[in-house]
Amino acid sequence: MAEATITATPAPRARVRQMKEYHPPLGSRDAMRLDFNENTLECSPKVRETLAQISAGALTRYPEREPVEAIVAENLGLRPEQVVLTNGVDEAIHVLFETFLEAGDEVLMPVPTYTMYEVYASATDAQVVTVQAADDLQFPFERLLAAITPRKKVIAIANPNSPSGSVATREQLLELARRAPQAVLLVDEAYFHFFGETVMDLVGTLPNLVVARTFSKAYGLAGLRLGLLAGPADLMRWVRRVLSPYSVNSLALACLPPALEDTVYLDWYVGEVLAARADFEAALDAAEVRRWPSRANFVLVEIGAQHAKFVQLMRDAGVLVRDRSSDPGCDGRVRITIGTRGQMRQTVMALNNAIATLRAESRKR
Ligand SMILES: Cc1ncc(COP(=O)(O)O)c(C=O)c1O
Repeated sequence: MAEATITATPAPRARVRQMKEYHPPLGSRDAMRLDFNENTLECSPKVRETLAQISAGALTRYPEREPVEAIVAENLGLRPEQVVLTNGVDEAIHVLFETFLEAGDEVLMPVPTYTMYEVYASATDAQVVTVQAADDLQFPFERLLAAITPRKKVIAIANPNSPSGSVATREQLLELARRAPQAVLLVDEAYFHFFGETVMDLVGTLPNLVVARTFSKAYGLAGLRLGLLAGPADLMRWVRRVLSPYSVNSLALACLPPALEDTVYLDWYVGEVLAARADFEAALDAAEVRRWPSRANFVLVEIGAQHAKFVQLMRDAGVLVRDRSSDPGCDGRVRITIGTRGQMRQTVMALNNAIATLRAESRKR
């Protein structure tokens, strides 16, 4: 008997078909990179030395995550079972959502916030519920509390938040964790080093608190892709089931201990950024450019209708900045990463010229 001809083609899940495409604007970044909140210089020299010593033979072996997790756990004052290393915080978010969300569940998040929460949530069968921050972009605590229902299974909070730079207090986070015991409260501390406040010390004391940290920002290792989740051992056990055992590669694992040890480099870089942020904020005030108070290594500024032109003028002057106009409630706003004081002096010159050009043009109209 002749076999029936099969004409159908493979199709992704309905939820995947509905997902928006997300392409970070990474193309041709051969300029001053103030667009992705990375470290704008380099990583610790100790990390470079470690990389140089890695043998070709070492690359033939599968990476072993556990010994490095134990080192990181000790550094954070936690037990190894409470720490999971991931391929950047992005993978941490992805795996956490895959582990805890199913059809009928909801993910709660204030907006504007980090884009990838929505991207990964929309790849699950759960629904996204957002709470829009007011014009001051402060953490909308009361309205988030009011939005808690039994369906909320994950609450995602970036602290400090991007692109606003605003923060939630420890008390607010504790209250959210208490009021939603059925939900994982993800506190994403990607910008912790520039803020200095943390809830890492509460990990293990609250049954639903999970903290994320990245090595992409202050540590300057975005290219290596290193992040972590810290949470109660019984939650991390489920996350480990979903996570690939090899998603953190051996180069990244080798570099993590020296990166953690070199506190001199880290403190220097963070101190430089904080000094540069204060100078840059003063320059924005002098130029009468509205800005939002930031506790991170970036500042959100109001440019208005000419935002795209501004980003182009800055690019022409060799400085890449990030248009956040398509973020909820952010029309006309641009996010500028803070680099070193020297880099920010150059940025202020470019910014003043760009603003002068835009203001002259608007006077002509
Ligand atoms: C709040 C927040 N979380 C996580 C990330 C991504 O971290 P990673 O590079 O470790 O994936 C970013 C990057 O911009 C971020 O802003």
